[in-house]
Amino acid sequence: MTWMFTDNNGTFNLKQADEISCLYFPLANESGMMSAVTPSLNGDIKTGQNSFLLQPVSAEDLHNNRSNRNFWLNIKGYGPWSATGNSARQISSKYSKKSDETVELEAGFLWHKVIRENRQINIRSEITNFVPVDDDQLELMKVTIFNIGKEKIELTATAAIPIFGRSADNLRDHRHVTSLLNHIKTNNYGVIVKPTLSFDERGHKRNYTSYAVLGSGPDNSNPIGFCPVLQDFIGEGGTLDWPRTIVEGNSDYVKSGFEYDGYESMGALRFKEEELEPGDFISYIIVMAIDQTGNNMDKYIEKYCSKKSFDRKLAENKEYWQSKLNQLTFYTGDHNFDNWMKWVTLQPILRRIYGCSFLPYHDYGRGGRGWRDLWQDCLALLLMDDENVHDLLYNNFAGVRIDGSNATIIGNEPGEFIADRNNISRLWIDHGAWPLQTTSLYINMTGNLRFLLEKQTYFKDGIISFARERDEYWNIDMGNKLKTKEGKIYQGSILEHILLENLTAFFNVGENNNLRLEDADWNDGLDMASEKGESVAFTAFYAGNLLEIVRLLEKLRDQEGITEVELLEEINVLLDSLNDSLNYGNVEEKNKTLAKYFNSCKHNISGNMLSIPINELIKDIKCKAEWVVEHFRKEEWIGDKNGYEWFNGYYDNNGQRVDGVGPVETRMTLTGQVFSTMFDIATEKQIEKITLAADKYLFDKKVGGYRLNTEFKDKELQLGRCFEFAYGHKENGAMFSHMSVMYAKALYQRDFVKEGYKVWNTIYQHCLDFEKSRIYPGIPEYINSRGRGMYTYLTGSASWLLLTMVTEVFGIKGFLGSLKIEPKLQKEQFDQDGKASININFAGNKLKVEYINTNKLDCGEYEIKKVTMNGREITPHETGSYVVIDKGDLQISDENIIIVKLG
Ligand code: G1P
Repeated sequence: MTWMFTDNNGTFNLKQADEISCLYFPLANESGMMSAVTPSLNGDIKTGQNSFLLQPVSAEDLHNNRSNRNFWLNIKGYGPWSATGNSARQISSKYSKKSDETVELEAGFLWHKVIRENRQINIRSEITNFVPVDDDQLELMKVTIFNIGKEKIELTATAAIPIFGRSADNLRDHRHVTSLLNHIKTNNYGVIVKPTLSFDERGHKRNYTSYAVLGSGPDNSNPIGFCPVLQDFIGEGGTLDWPRTIVEGNSDYVKSGFEYDGYESMGALRFKEEELEPGDFISYIIVMAIDQTGNNMDKYIEKYCSKKSFDRKLAENKEYWQSKLNQLTFYTGDHNFDNWMKWVTLQPILRRIYGCSFLPYHDYGRGGRGWRDLWQDCLALLLMDDENVHDLLYNNFAGVRIDGSNATIIGNEPGEFIADRNNISRLWIDHGAWPLQTTSLYINMTGNLRFLLEKQTYFKDGIISFARERDEYWNIDMGNKLKTKEGKIYQGSILEHILLENLTAFFNVGENNNLRLEDADWNDGLDMASEKGESVAFTAFYAGNLLEIVRLLEKLRDQEGITEVELLEEINVLLDSLNDSLNYGNVEEKNKTLAKYFNSCKHNISGNMLSIPINELIKDIKCKAEWVVEHFRKEEWIGDKNGYEWFNGYYDNNGQRVDGVGPVETRMTLTGQVFSTMFDIATEKQIEKITLAADKYLFDKKVGGYRLNTEFKDKELQLGRCFEFAYGHKENGAMFSHMSVMYAKALYQRDFVKEGYKVWNTIYQHCLDFEKSRIYPGIPEYINSRGRGMYTYLTGSASWLLLTMVTEVFGIKGFLGSLKIEPKLQKEQFDQDGKASININFAGNKLKVEYINTNKLDCGEYEIKKVTMNGREITPHETGSYVVIDKGDLQISDENIIIVKLG
């Protein structure tokens, strides 16, 4: 059993999809409508934490919960049959040999269709769901019923969709009391519920949002009646999968204009009786809407409640998503891969819409994304050449605090960061590392070096000095922008923001002179070592950043003629070599320096600027970076008695080294290897050894490749909650896609192509193997100990996989706005004619880059022999490994066809 792609547009089908647990599919638009739908039409619909149209569901509810979208047929001579498969009779006979029912799923961008056929009653239902790409917040569903037998069928249809209509918080908290707020009414097309108040964390407020289930039958006919109260619909002792109204065929349905208060409501729409001749079919349209003002229901009926508009809107929807995804496509010898990557390309867009909260596995949080996710999702936007990306990056920098940390509550509007009223102070030590990575990609893709000199504000709240202290003088009325002593809002350059994030990290060291782990790093689960814990892994990341800052400053100097950089006076203390150089080997001196800086900017700042010669700045930062690299290579390279060697990744809360041979077992972390490899800290020889050790201790084909860590059995080790998770799950030793993909990218960057290919290809092959992974196309957050893909769709690994494919595998790199092409494709990635290609928008220019490898040589065996762009020849670099096309040359044609011959 597996899904199959049926075209080149990512469309796939899956037979008997309803026999697989926890499968769900996202339906959404960019106006904030978020649905999840399963093969039996379960799943929820919402626009946010406080506005769920259908009852919120976690993954485990998907097989227990029969209370979402249902569509009943009462068939003469047979009785009730659910077109969605949600009747007690269908469920109980699902696995029996006698079952006459088959189910097939078809899905694409972004629509979902389930075809259910029952050979006993000779009926077939086709149910299509999607969210139109309009500004409206609604999901549409078309149910088409076919008579596939030789006899006439007489049936009565009833759409049956319970309306939850309130905040997810009320699922447990005041579920009953909040039903007393419901004002339910019917119109000609359906049931509308408008609770009088909203009960949520903001307090009890007058509610204006309405929730509705509206519908039309064959020939756009109205429903003939409604059963808008849940208790009446299921009847005394009834259930949603065997409701008495349906089973007993009650006809006491109410008409339009009915009003009722204070009960759980039901979008039950009864349609008139129909006769279906053999070969005939009829369709019903259902609109499930959330309306913020409560005034738009008539408009929705007019706009969506007909078969014609459904078909038109569906076509628009398909076109919209296709054209969005066509901006970045891959062609290789593997049709599955090309299609699978389309789903990966969609994933960062989905995370922008859903945040990290609103799909069934993501049953935590209240919407939005965290700081690191925000920056990493921008990577994908950059690759899709999103025109808003400059503003997005610029606005994000307004979240940086003057101490180098950042706001943790991110608002919905660009650049909106919210002070934490609860003053929960937590410091994720990796946060300061990500912005530079994204900014550097942006600068290279666009050539906009001057972005570094743009001015931006700083975020201000009561949390200061890396969350170690509170600013007693600050209160929320003072606003959340940093001010000078004179009370003026201060703005510093983007470069200054970046410098602060990375310099403060340099000085923030633990007793082993690595970055303190604080309350966790990228691995959210490393949250129990804030006293003595150190993140050696992110020490490497920040060292890489310091080196990148040096490169950027050199470019500013050489290309933009910048000789001096303006920085806030207080920062001077962090540029110690300009004054009296510190001994970087001395932990205490470093900590004192940081404390001195923190003291100088607790409540406000001087606002005085210093002009620092760029060469001095470069020298200072280079010196720091080189010190870390040397220290890291010397102190953190470890090994075991079997001759394996690798880098230590962490120190725990006892100051004990995590990687290596512990008192109980040998321990290895993948994170410890990734950034040292990615940022040129590991030498080539060391990478060779790292890959051998990772193969020995972390690789496990049955879970999709490289695990995040080995099993830590030593109970003395104090690092974080994730080591209390069963081994092989999530952050405790699962194949965690995000870190694995970063490992792959790091290996490619260092020219370990075969090894890098193995990393992502094992994940890809595992995802393709549906019997094991049990997921639709796309990369999941992780693979669990049984090989199942978990937390599908919303994961930062998708952005990183795209980045790896574009910049490393297909080798499309930005170089200050010019294009550098440096392919690292393996021979199996070319088609039978030796061709592979990528379509991408680069700095506003459309490109198709086609590689021709007629002799099917492997990476390392081929060189770039000849390059043409729109027929004009361009000379590759003498090494034959890359070619650079000047940015001026790219703007010549609307679509540039670049052909790269390899041989
Ligand atoms: C998730 C979080 C990410 C975090 C990671 C490890 O990864 O979103 O911020 O760093 O877990 O704890 P993702 O879902 O992006 O794969």
